[in-house]
Amino acid sequence: MPSRIRKAPMPTARFTLDPAFTVGDVDPRLFGSFVEHLGRCVYTGVFEPDHPAADERGLRRDVLDLVRELGVTVVRYPGGNFVSGYRWEDSVGPAHERPRRLDLAWHSTETNRFGLSEYLDFLRKTDAAPMMAVNLGTRGVTEALQLQEYANHPAGTALSDLRVAHGDKNPFGIRLWCLGNEMDGPWQTGHKTAREYGRIAAETARAMRQFDPGTELVVCGSSSRSMPTFAAWEATVLEETYELVDHISLHAYYWPEDGDVDSFLASAVDMESFIEDVVATADHVGARLKSTKRITLSFDEWNVWYLPEWEARAKTLQQADWPEAPRLLEDCYSVTDAVVFGSLLIALLRHADRVAVACLAQLVNVIAPIMTEPGGPAWRQTTFFPFAQAARYGRGRVLDVRVDGPTYATRKYGEADLLHATAVRAEDGSVTVFAVNRGRTEPLPLEVALYGLDVTRVVEHSALADADPDARNTLDDPERVLPHPVEGAAVRDGRLTAVLEPLSWNVIRLA
Ligand code: AHR
Repeated sequence: MPSRIRKAPMPTARFTLDPAFTVGDVDPRLFGSFVEHLGRCVYTGVFEPDHPAADERGLRRDVLDLVRELGVTVVRYPGGNFVSGYRWEDSVGPAHERPRRLDLAWHSTETNRFGLSEYLDFLRKTDAAPMMAVNLGTRGVTEALQLQEYANHPAGTALSDLRVAHGDKNPFGIRLWCLGNEMDGPWQTGHKTAREYGRIAAETARAMRQFDPGTELVVCGSSSRSMPTFAAWEATVLEETYELVDHISLHAYYWPEDGDVDSFLASAVDMESFIEDVVATADHVGARLKSTKRITLSFDEWNVWYLPEWEARAKTLQQADWPEAPRLLEDCYSVTDAVVFGSLLIALLRHADRVAVACLAQLVNVIAPIMTEPGGPAWRQTTFFPFAQAARYGRGRVLDVRVDGPTYATRKYGEADLLHATAVRAEDGSVTVFAVNRGRTEPLPLEVALYGLDVTRVVEHSALADADPDARNTLDDPERVLPHPVEGAAVRDGRLTAVLEPLSWNVIRLA
């Protein structure tokens, strides 16, 4: 009789937390983001002098508030593909005297109204640190050194005095620099082979360190794990630069390929393997060089991005005019996207021992957690919330989490865990569990054994989930999706128990 057939209950997903078993300390720079001169990220995004909310420098106060709320710690700039044609000297001095230029990367016109000084002002107002890229596409060592001197030398030389004359008396103190962007990609202006790039990166690194030995440098890894040159590229580039740089970059974007949502939900499986492959490759080079130094990772572009849609659009762009700040890459994120996004954050935290820097690409309007309308409001996308919560509560030491629980079948990754999780212990002993239920239909019971932790109660269980996984925040309905409190999580007899809603991002705070 069909009415008597009962579905077996979903098995419980379990793991143990013990402060004796840790991954590593979270570098606050794991919560970085990225502002590129691309589409409306800068113009009518962070910068819109005519907007009613603009401050005296043209920055949108409503956007500054949201960036602060997001908790971004470092902002990579000015690109991206844009940096491979970037002329830094165009972006300084009186704004009305700055030249208009063609931007080959995005087939746009760059007005340079927003430049270096405005970027630093934006950082000061959002409590974020700079992460500046130099152009190793169309330029090289000389221009990188000139920019470094203009930005960081106190005064008394031609370039530092020029900065002072431009109104910035104090040096910018930019410590973290990227040596170009995605130089392995054939689309990159000035694309190079691994050996060619490794050589110019090494020369530039050596010179920048001559200027300041404390300079922290990111060398370009592959623009994606699926590049045909992946791993060989990293090995060759690091052979040339190993002792001269601190970090190697990784970039990854995910979308539901061929509509395969189950694999999309397991995207972090790929992200974690990518990280582990790059660590293995870097350590292999280190071993060959008999070096005791360990290269760390700068995952300086990551996100959900509906890339095929952009690639189709890009073809039409080539034939168009050269517009100023066109609407490009303005993906509108669903609840499903936010759950995948949260899982990518979990993947980064689970590798906090080797990932020192990570940048959500990008910050405003362009595949971004914050959207704006020119002359109109700013609002939070669904992806805003996992980032803001992780940036706030993901500070401290990551505890080792080994999940034992139910799995589901995916086309791309085989059997994947329904639960993806990590936990971070703060200095005051409180613990935050970040967890994603990848299951689309069933709630997932969770049980966490707590050893050696001084936590006795649940402060909060917050979830991002919705009866409609396709729900989104839009201009017309900017608060359609918000995180909500969940009842029922408890700590008893050294065990945390909770239930995770289907397709959900969860933050469970214990004190
Ligand atoms: O973030 C958008 C673009 O993606 C960046 O400009 C580039 O580095 C990457 O391919």
